[in-house]
Amino acid sequence: MSNSHTNTLENSQNSSPLTITIRQPDDWHIHLRDGNALTTTVAHAAQSFNRVICMPNLVPPVKTAADAITYRQRIEQALMQTNIDAQRKTQFNPRMTLYFTDNTSAADIKQAAESGIVQAVKLYPAGATTNSADGVTDLKHCTAALDAMQQYELPLLVHSEVTRADVDIFDREKQFIENNLQQIVHDYPELKIVVEHITTGDAADFVLAQKDNVAATITPQHLLFNRNHLLVGGIKPHFYCLPILKKATHQARLLEVATSGNPKFFLGTDSAPHATHAKENACGCAGCYSAAHALPLYATAFDGIGKIDKLEDFCSRFGAEFYGLPLNDTTITLVKTDMTVPATYAYIDDSTLTPLLAGDTLPWSIQ
Ligand code: DOR
Ligand code: ZN
Repeated sequence: MSNSHTNTLENSQNSSPLTITIRQPDDWHIHLRDGNALTTTVAHAAQSFNRVICMPNLVPPVKTAADAITYRQRIEQALMQTNIDAQRKTQFNPRMTLYFTDNTSAADIKQAAESGIVQAVKLYPAGATTNSADGVTDLKHCTAALDAMQQYELPLLVHSEVTRADVDIFDREKQFIENNLQQIVHDYPELKIVVEHITTGDAADFVLAQKDNVAATITPQHLLFNRNHLLVGGIKPHFYCLPILKKATHQARLLEVATSGNPKFFLGTDSAPHATHAKENACGCAGCYSAAHALPLYATAFDGIGKIDKLEDFCSRFGAEFYGLPLNDTTITLVKTDMTVPATYAYIDDSTLTPLLAGDTLPWSIQ
């Protein structure tokens, strides 16, 4: 496929703003939710992304291939009702995941693999995050399903955090890697694994130490922010997600690997909508909403350290290659022109949805 039209930087002499045209990106980790939420989330995702991997933590979760097929139909229906342009509608391609439970069987995996609809299986340790109550309580329940996933080449997507009450929230990712993930990689050496939304240098180093079948997604918030943004000068609920933002040293390491050109690291926004009142709450929900402006956010992070030339492969190549999918052949252009992030969007039941950095100005926008 020709590469000539992509990743071109233009900054003509007539002082027009810098633009960068990149291959159309995919989002390898997104929460679209269900029902009326899809009107908002699908429209936003489809403006920027062709393929999106849809997380299965609905209520109730997407546990079988049949659940995944009907969920995909609801997403497609919502897409048709949006007013985004016809070309974006044909290019948008929601890809489904199953929710791993203690009862996920080898037969469930076989059906999922043969459905042609399910692309991966998402493992949430029970209680780790939003709608994870039905998740895995102990990996000893997962042996048959993991064997089948390896056999049918269905990747495992991992929310990598232990849930034990005695483990500090800032150490939960590292402990899951040491206590659980290391074992999974050892026991299933051919299984494709994506460590989702990594937040620490420890996770980056773990991924780097594995073979090509182990990769990671990185969110915009973990590249742009650290726990000071969340906690200094008052608690900022819209920076609260799980795994939680870590120290600045971890943020720096994530930026380093994301912009290194190493194909193990690729885009997964983890855009996770919760109504404003559920975030700005005495017990606020975890999740940052970034579906609409994820590309300006990533561009800001990459450009901030002089690595805008590494953006395209991170956004539009490495994920597709990891999953063995063709590269997209359309493009999107980003411009180094200020954009103001909307204060809110309309959301379900007359609520609003507050995006990450609501009301702030980003130096990059989508043309
Ligand atoms: O912050 C998060 N929100 N992390 C997750 O793992 C789940 C997500 C959600 O579904 O809201
Ligand atoms: Zn997620």
